[in-house]
Amino acid sequence: MKQKTGILISLEGGEGGGKTTQVNQLKKHLEDSGREVVPVREPGGTKISEQIREIVLSSKNEGITDTTEVLLFQAARAQIYRQVVIPALNAGKVVIMDRTRDSSVVYQGMVRGFGKELIEELNDISTKKIVPDLTLLLDVSVKTGLDRRIDSGKMDRLDMEAKSFHKKVRDAYLDLANEKKQKRWRIIDAEKSVEEVADMIWQAVSEKIKAE
Ligand code: TYD
Repeated sequence: MKQKTGILISLEGGEGGGKTTQVNQLKKHLEDSGREVVPVREPGGTKISEQIREIVLSSKNEGITDTTEVLLFQAARAQIYRQVVIPALNAGKVVIMDRTRDSSVVYQGMVRGFGKELIEELNDISTKKIVPDLTLLLDVSVKTGLDRRIDSGKMDRLDMEAKSFHKKVRDAYLDLANEKKQKRWRIIDAEKSVEEVADMIWQAVSEKIKAE
């Protein structure tokens, strides 16, 4: 891993797990405890990466091939790490990422079938081998996730995939988080209320910060 002094925390999971709400809650907690925080989302987070996001997620772009999808997520990632994440970590800040490399491992590697190894190689190029210090998996049932997404009225190209796709995503995340060598993962029951989930996240993050 590259030399760094900050802390990188990622939130991962299928659709409708409430990641975005929880990023905001966590940011407030960390700032109240005196840390400088940089919240970012993938794909996106820079002017260039947001343009790539528009291409890869737009429901108008049904014709995107799986390979194009793999490379566009990586392109957006390469940009945000170089422009935002690495400078922030080098400045000692806490970076909170709403999705990062594990989204590609799960969606493109395990569900679309490109394989974990290939995706991790690409991830290492895009991130300059940076891996989150702590990864919080916000786990919800497929039904809860999709119901929340439908209620929000914001369905993108990937949200519109079949239910079986979302079931595979959930199972792949749980498999990845339960791999013994992956000690950075914490599974959070995101069926609980926003406040309860925020408390569980804060407990995991404060433990990590104390251990640094
Ligand atoms: P977003 O609206 O941010 O989803 P959510 O609110 O569920 O986090 O859209 C991101 C979508 O892109 C989501 O369906 C997951 C997918 N994705 C990948 O397939 N691979 C990736 O590497 C990343 C970062 C996201």
